[in-house]
Amino acid sequence: MRDLVNTVSRELSTDPVDAGRIVADILRCRPHELYLIEGITDGARNAVLSSLTELKNGMPLEYITGMVQFRDHVLRINAGVFIPRPETEYFVELIMKRMHKDPSRILEIGTGTGAISIALASSYPGARILATDISSRAIENARQNIRKCGLEQRVLLVRSDAYSGIRGSFDLIVSNPPYIPRSRIHHLPKSVKDFEPVLALDGGNLGTELTERLILGGLDRISNGGAMAFEIDEDAVDILRGFLTDHEISAFRFEKDLSGSYRYLFIGVPDEES
Ligand SMILES: C[S@@+](CC[C@H](N)C(=O)[O-])C[C@H]1O[C@@H](n2cnc3c(N)ncnc32)[C@H](O)[C@@H]1O
Repeated sequence: MRDLVNTVSRELSTDPVDAGRIVADILRCRPHELYLIEGITDGARNAVLSSLTELKNGMPLEYITGMVQFRDHVLRINAGVFIPRPETEYFVELIMKRMHKDPSRILEIGTGTGAISIALASSYPGARILATDISSRAIENARQNIRKCGLEQRVLLVRSDAYSGIRGSFDLIVSNPPYIPRSRIHHLPKSVKDFEPVLALDGGNLGTELTERLILGGLDRISNGGAMAFEIDEDAVDILRGFLTDHEISAFRFEKDLSGSYRYLFIGVPDEES
């Protein structure tokens, strides 16, 4: 086993600890268990070596293992569905800090694997969530995860483009929409541009196309005292500030992620000081 971990470490130019984690994920065990296995079957060795070829070709590990960790949940991830990121885990944490009252009706647009909705449903046991996506692959993947987490009664799924067909009002509207400016997509790392769905990345010319639609459509759909929360591109702050000002929306704030980049936009939550 040590030889195999060393091969992975060398071929991927990663340190042996990371290589051990990768091998453990592929073999679906914990890293320390690797060294408890005496000998390794041909099947397991071949699985690692063929995954190594895919990894070297740029395929994200999550698509190889079919699993992704998001906060307390191990979710299933299918090809063609966006892999949830650590900054989105922090987004969920910030939402919980900023909401001054537990939301009971939540709408998520563009749910992907269902990660945000599942995390919010776990944190707000009284909430009912409507989770949407325009992609049928995403809806299918989210359905699997919602079922796996036993949340079918509280998280409903609808395939829809933005707000089309969505009625009612919500205490929280949340979205991590596609927000990469179109011209930047071909500069993204191979692991992203060749493997993740362009529908999940392409935010139009400036990267704010869907976000702006969601802000305007959300104004009529948030309840009294409700809020909207968006993950955004760090370079979109000025564009979005101008957009909000042009539309006379004043109750907004931008927030930073853990690396210090402005990554989130909240509309309708009070300032920290107030
Ligand atoms: C960046 S991914 C986020 C996925 C997931 N919420 C997460 O944070 O991991 C954006 C998602 O929005 C979906 N999407 C793109 N355009 C949409 C639209 N017009 N209406 C609804 N969903 C859309 C994509 O299919 C994709 O699943």
